[in-house]
Amino acid sequence: MKKLTLGLVAASAAGALLLTGCSSSDRTDSTSSSTESASEAAGFAADATIGVALPQKTSENWVLAEDLFNTGLADAGFNPIVQFANGGVTEQQNQISAMIEQGAKVIVVGAIDGSQLGTQLEAAAADGIKVIAYDRLVKNTEAVDMYVAFDNYQVGVLQGTALLQGLAERKGDGPYNIELIAGSPDDANATPFFLGAMSVLQPKIDDGTLVVVSGQTSFEEVATQGWKAENAQKRMDTVLAGFYTDTELDGILSPNDTLGRAAMTAVAQAGKETPVVTGQDSEVESVKSIMAGEQYSTIYKDTRELVAQTIKEITLLQQGQDPEINDTESYDNGVKIVPSYLLTPLIVTKDNAATVYANDTTLFPLTQG
Ligand code: BGC
Repeated sequence: MKKLTLGLVAASAAGALLLTGCSSSDRTDSTSSSTESASEAAGFAADATIGVALPQKTSENWVLAEDLFNTGLADAGFNPIVQFANGGVTEQQNQISAMIEQGAKVIVVGAIDGSQLGTQLEAAAADGIKVIAYDRLVKNTEAVDMYVAFDNYQVGVLQGTALLQGLAERKGDGPYNIELIAGSPDDANATPFFLGAMSVLQPKIDDGTLVVVSGQTSFEEVATQGWKAENAQKRMDTVLAGFYTDTELDGILSPNDTLGRAAMTAVAQAGKETPVVTGQDSEVESVKSIMAGEQYSTIYKDTRELVAQTIKEITLLQQGQDPEINDTESYDNGVKIVPSYLLTPLIVTKDNAATVYANDTTLFPLTQG
């Protein structure tokens, strides 16, 4: 697979998980002292406060994470402070500052805007607080100790692959008319999702198999501010009215389920046949749609696995041990390559949904007719 190193982030999809290595030699908390008990000596107290700063509720995975962090951290003996920042970046900055004030030993950050938290995270680092970027990378600061996420570039690769597979299955022979949608430009994930997908789709655009009828192929043109469904729907309305009055639209690359469903609504309202639409997150409504033969695909990133790995890392830090790292080359945040633990995302279509969701008590029943 070709590896792209465009902008700040690139992840080698297949190679990432094969790499191991530990980058962090400096994991001893500065607050340790000889008066602490043996179990706390190298890390921090076993009942320490842990801050978790989540973004807005732009998809179901974040809502699931809130609950899982509260329960999982409490079960591990910690005192969790888990907060959403529905009001935006300033609210998230204030929440992180408050977590520092409240004596958090680790702050887990799902950033709204990955490049707007430098001041707060540097203050955290100055206090000896460990910072874990969760799901979304934190950019342009040294003050991030590690990154725990599903491999975002690979998510994009799978989405591009699914689109091609769905077109061949459902739309006969090409060439195929498609449109592209990307995520929110402030989210550090939106770029690797798009680059991963384009690594698969661009050669097919170049050889004429795929035709982007609107001509809108740059990230800037296809991005969706705030990951908001209404923004994606509005753009699709405009594209359909401008370019598809007497042409069929065969496929839509959508970076997640919420935007995919919004795009499908726009297409239905324009009175057109359902195109092949990709997604991500395995949201309940989209899994139902996939099983009904509408949305073509989604991606499974089991939030339980991601939160569990993050809590495992926190526990290692608490014990004064090195965190678990399996990638030390893929996620460059602009000032350093952030040591990462990357999980593997899975592609889901109607054909494999029951197998992929076999251990998911919410999603598996949806696959059973
Ligand atoms: C997450 C996706 C999610 C999107 C919108 C991204 O950062 O990785 O899973 O769909 O945010 O909430």
